[in-house]
Amino acid sequence: MWNVGLYTSPILATVLYRRGYFVFDGIVTIAKFLTGIGLILAASYCLRSIDRANNYTYITFLNSLTAAKKELNKDTKKALSRYDFEFYAWPVEFKWSDIEGDETKHRLYMDRPSPRRTAVEWLFALPCQVVSYVVAHTFGLRLVYPGSISMLQYVMAPILLQGRIKLVNENQAERFKLHTRDGNYVDTMIVDRRNKHANGNTLVICSEGNAGFYEIGIMVTPLEAGYSVLGWNHPGFGGSTGMPYPDQELNAIDIVMQFAIHGLKFQPENILLFGWSIGGYPISWAAMNYPDVKGVILDATFDDIVELAILRMPSSLEPLVRKTIRDYINLNIYQQLSKYPGPVLLIRRTEDEVICTEEMKLSSNRGNNLLVKLLKYRYPKIFDDEGVAILHAWLAADVNQRTIIWSKYDINEDLCVSTLMSYISEHSNSFPCLVGEGFSSDLKAEMVLFLAHKYMIDFQSTHCTPLPANMFRLPWELSSELEYVKV
Ligand SMILES: *[C@@H]1O[C@H](CO)[C@@H](O)[C@H](O)[C@H]1NC(C)=O
Repeated sequence: MWNVGLYTSPILATVLYRRGYFVFDGIVTIAKFLTGIGLILAASYCLRSIDRANNYTYITFLNSLTAAKKELNKDTKKALSRYDFEFYAWPVEFKWSDIEGDETKHRLYMDRPSPRRTAVEWLFALPCQVVSYVVAHTFGLRLVYPGSISMLQYVMAPILLQGRIKLVNENQAERFKLHTRDGNYVDTMIVDRRNKHANGNTLVICSEGNAGFYEIGIMVTPLEAGYSVLGWNHPGFGGSTGMPYPDQELNAIDIVMQFAIHGLKFQPENILLFGWSIGGYPISWAAMNYPDVKGVILDATFDDIVELAILRMPSSLEPLVRKTIRDYINLNIYQQLSKYPGPVLLIRRTEDEVICTEEMKLSSNRGNNLLVKLLKYRYPKIFDDEGVAILHAWLAADVNQRTIIWSKYDINEDLCVSTLMSYISEHSNSFPCLVGEGFSSDLKAEMVLFLAHKYMIDFQSTHCTPLPANMFRLPWELSSELEYVKV
């Protein structure tokens, strides 16, 4: 009622004013009415307390909670895990300050350098600055992350509860509360399948979309594929506190990574990072800062949010949108991903309706931009102008056209692998990899298609369809081809 009242307050106020309630008598009437409601509320809270104090189920729960808050160990945690309750009351299990010596670990951030301005320039820029600050902090961030709107969460609450019950009952998931360095709490759910499943020794860390919650999100895919899985909610989503501003988002993924490594004791080389849509932002940051992870899988992700944001707003507002995004919600996924040297797999949805800049046009999918930029950075000699042109043609082609292109260039995968390997054995396997100098245009074209085919797979669906488990595969690695050759 409070929320509804708040959102409709302008209308309510007008109605009350018209009816003449804003005179002394009217105000007295309103005050009486509110006092009445207050009394009813207070009485019902009292009744509820009396009822709970006499309810065996409730008293057992309260005892479990008190015991767990006093000392959190295996037994008290187990007793507590049988209940679902407001997350603020959940005991904190892993804190930023728990990590010894980690305060000093340097972390990389890909922020835009702020322009140097003289005092006069600064004064002229001030009004713009104020407007974009207000836009970002009122509706801007909520438009980018609709899942943070409290009304939506209120409506979703029963569905999220069902999701948690399902995870705990069917997958033996365990819930954890983490405390970030900026004071937020992160709601986390873990399914630990070490020594239980074939893939259980690998932990998949899942980052959700802009209206996604781990309760009903992408965890299902790696779970079905038999991995250990960790899901967490963005700041301001579900049980997590805060708001999904980039800095809070990055502190949240950082504590999740620290918890996975130091709390759960998964080695970084056994951690796979998996992000869907906007979840590619925290994932690419984690990849840049934890480069030893096993690999990165990005599903329906884009290179940079700015073009997508501009598209959704009136074109006259473009400069404002650009500035607001760059200053406050700068989700520059490509920049972060390029700093990660390990295996990457991109999954593109062929009927994506969310991250295409032109309706139903495969070639305008922003996932293409992410692939092109990444490959250009990693293999600059292969993806020169000529190579990029072939790649664009490949990315715009449908399934039939692809078959034609593939057979036209007569791709010999073994040749591509051995070409890369011999380059690496003579030089180094770091990026940018300068293989491709002096290649014939045929060989270069072959390498373009071979690499594109290894780095990105297509999933014939729309943006929000859950990814089937059989498409959840490890990113391609040259060294795995090496083992294959040895056998
Ligand atoms: C006790 O409380 C639980 C949880 O709120 C409720 O499900 C149950 O019906 C209550 N039992 C009685 C006897 O009121």
